[in-house]
Amino acid sequence: MNQTQAGPLLVRRAGEPDADELARMLTGLTDLSRYFRFQTAIGSPPRTALLLRMLCPAGAAFVATRGPAIVGHAMWAWAPGAATAELAAVIAEDEQRRGLGVRMLSIAAADAIASGATHFLFVVSAANERSVRMVRRRWPDAAVERDGALLSFVAPARLPDQPEERADVVDQQTGSLERREMPAPGELRPVDDSVPAL
Ligand SMILES: CC(C)(COP(=O)(O)OP(=O)(O)OC[C@H]1O[C@@H](n2cnc3c(N)ncnc32)[C@H](O)[C@@H]1OP(=O)(O)O)[C@@H](O)C(=O)NCCC(=O)NCCS
Repeated sequence: MNQTQAGPLLVRRAGEPDADELARMLTGLTDLSRYFRFQTAIGSPPRTALLLRMLCPAGAAFVATRGPAIVGHAMWAWAPGAATAELAAVIAEDEQRRGLGVRMLSIAAADAIASGATHFLFVVSAANERSVRMVRRRWPDAAVERDGALLSFVAPARLPDQPEERADVVDQQTGSLERREMPAPGELRPVDDSVPAL
């Protein structure tokens, strides 16, 4: 079925029960999108440990759904550096280029700020021109360092410029940011809590 026919987009906090649908979404990505998000092979289906790190980070994770299907994921996790939150997102192929990536990163960014983050970190493949441009445009004051094929952007924590509201996107954040509600901890909470890149 065409994804756009499968109901409205909802964005909500993620949790361990989302593992199967997240695995389905990741499996449906092109090799390039998977590489841009993870910079390495993630297994097919993706490893359970990776899924749990994406769903139950030391930070917060969010999914976008259309009907029963997960069509987007964004997360933040504490990273080395004073009050630094690393952010990342990945959107299903059919849903890319419609504003969902920026929208989900905005939600993750707001949640990280509410949890005390003062800086954001984005680790992006230098070949990922779309994401590099997105970070540069949305966080123009980010400092960038190159480490091999990767670019690390560190920016003062603030919300990105908001794209125009889309009528077909409904946010359903469960729990208010003010209450700083965290997702339910998973059975496996990773020792390394940074945004999983493998
Ligand atoms: C990068 C990604 C998260 C962006 O999400 P998206 O929903 O496709 O993007 P949006 O519609 O929100 O647009 C975000 C920006 O990218 C631009 N963009 C999106 N798709 C593009 C494309 N194919 N070509 C050029 N620019 C594009 C938009 O114009 C927008 O630019 P702006 O910030 O300057 O306004 C998504 O494309 C994705 O999952 N890519 C694969 C994984 C990845 O690269 N993750 C990021 C690394 S953590």
